[in-house]
Amino acid sequence: MNLILLGPPGAGKGTQAKKMIDALGVPQISTGDILRAAVKDGTPMGVEAKKFMDAGQLVPDSVVIGIIADRLKESDCDKGFILDGFPRTVAQADALEAMLRKMDKDIDDVVSIEVPDEDLLGRLTGRRMCTCGASFHVMFNKPKLEGICDLCGKELYQRDDDREEAIRERLVNYHKQTAPLIEFYTERGKLRAIPGTGSVDDIFNGIMRVVRG
Ligand code: AP5
Ligand code: MG
Repeated sequence: MNLILLGPPGAGKGTQAKKMIDALGVPQISTGDILRAAVKDGTPMGVEAKKFMDAGQLVPDSVVIGIIADRLKESDCDKGFILDGFPRTVAQADALEAMLRKMDKDIDDVVSIEVPDEDLLGRLTGRRMCTCGASFHVMFNKPKLEGICDLCGKELYQRDDDREEAIRERLVNYHKQTAPLIEFYTERGKLRAIPGTGSVDDIFNGIMRVVRG
């Protein structure tokens, strides 16, 4: 099962992908997570990417296409994968098509999680992360103890790009650069639109229905 999760910043791609890993037995590939790990490790790619990420802009296509080309070759992708946050431009979608064709693979479904812009700012300013990968929200998914991860007990932090100014820039860039992919995948008969408002479980059940259907 080869899937893409498409949606604006804060749509719930990461939240849903984490649940889908267990249900489908395939890995989540998040370009955002891979880039943040490179930033944390201080690699040359991470140092370069951080400038774009903190400003709410997309990292250059060549960088993320390279990341995905390497990642898809790993053996855990043999049974399938969930792409979270890639592709994000038409150039990335074209490159993905070409690399999958070479591997004799194809995308099965593109799940487009639809959330109105007015909900996204609150979701992102209230998001709190843990280094273990868990994610919370100060109102919608509160940890049991304020500021502390339920899973590992570490202190929660805010992502550097979850500041209002960067969020607004991310939303503008989503509409300019990423939203055209909705048409790209509709033309290919692969787009499955899912309402992304309501409970996390209801949205998850909606996704499972379309990808298993
Ligand atoms: P990335 O990490 O992919 O960020 P993003 O697309 O902006 O999306 P987010 O991770 O912010 O949101 P999400 O949809 O995962 O939502 P989540 O589940 O966390 O990319 C970061 C940056 O890296 C980019 O800006 C760019 O610079 C670079 N980058 C990455 N990929 C790239 C690419 N392909 N090309 C170029 N550059 C790239 O949920 C958000 C919050 O809402 C959480 O607090 C959650 O608890 C809450 N929530 C979730 N579901 C619900 C619900 N149903 N109701 C209420 N609250 C909810
Ligand atoms: Mg995410």
